[in-house]
Amino acid sequence: MLGELLNRSQARKILAGAPAGKARQLKIDGALTAAHYDRQPYRITHRLGENPLLHWPALQALCRRRGDLVGVRRGEVRVESDISHSFEEYPLNVSQEEVIADPIAHRAYLLVTNPERDETYRPLIESLVGEIAQATRALESRMTWYSCYIFISTQSAITPYHQDRELNYLLQIEGTKHVDLWDPRDDAIMTPAERDELLAYGSSQRPSYRPACEGRAQRFDLEPGQGVHHPFIAPHLVTTSSGFSISLAVTYRTTRTEVLTSAHRVNHRMRTHGWIPRPVGQAPLVDRSKAMAISAWRQLRRFVK
Ligand SMILES: [Fe+2]
Repeated sequence: MLGELLNRSQARKILAGAPAGKARQLKIDGALTAAHYDRQPYRITHRLGENPLLHWPALQALCRRRGDLVGVRRGEVRVESDISHSFEEYPLNVSQEEVIADPIAHRAYLLVTNPERDETYRPLIESLVGEIAQATRALESRMTWYSCYIFISTQSAITPYHQDRELNYLLQIEGTKHVDLWDPRDDAIMTPAERDELLAYGSSQRPSYRPACEGRAQRFDLEPGQGVHHPFIAPHLVTTSSGFSISLAVTYRTTRTEVLTSAHRVNHRMRTHGWIPRPVGQAPLVDRSKAMAISAWRQLRRFVK
């Protein structure tokens, strides 16, 4: 599994280690967070551009040192492409080193998955995760998992339309991007059955792009120093609007989103038996009961084994 699982004490340690006061790197507005967190996307600001670790020379060195974390492909891809296979679908016919040496010349898109696995970057990533946990703690439950991604892209590069199975803060560090985000609760964009299937056990299915819904997106033009919060499973599409861009996403799950995930899984199973379950999010007590049923079933299976 990609990313880092966090038990109770690890989550507490990350929260306690978060920088405070002027040392904070993220500025997550309390009033905006209270009004919109996990309901609607909203802007935040940050000062990650001051950190040399996130400048291209250091990132280039990271890409060379940790080639195992790096994926490269053509930047311009179809918005409807399947994100899970976009690296195989749009290869660059040059070596990874040639792309790292000059991504602009190759109109490339580089993805560094889990830079936290590199010991130079781990403290920085953990401090960002800690700051997010601190800024959202009045509204959110304990973090159970996080995963970080660094995107290095060139003019007109596209991250195709997709949904992630987590929450996210996307932070723009260099260059500019358009981020289109759709309401994950809008049935015209994703039906309840599609949401259930997205979160089903082992599912690689994601609801596909609907051109007719293009006008329903909220667009965020991100400049360096800006970022945007993505609600849980919110569909999104990202386009690089400058010649070169660096951005970083901190994605995470919490005990609350684990409950939602379990409820979607129960619903998906019910649908395969021909039932029409109550959509997740309509009745928190019902969602919690479904999550408890899954947890009890797992414990029983463990006991029987
Ligand atoms: Fe994403």
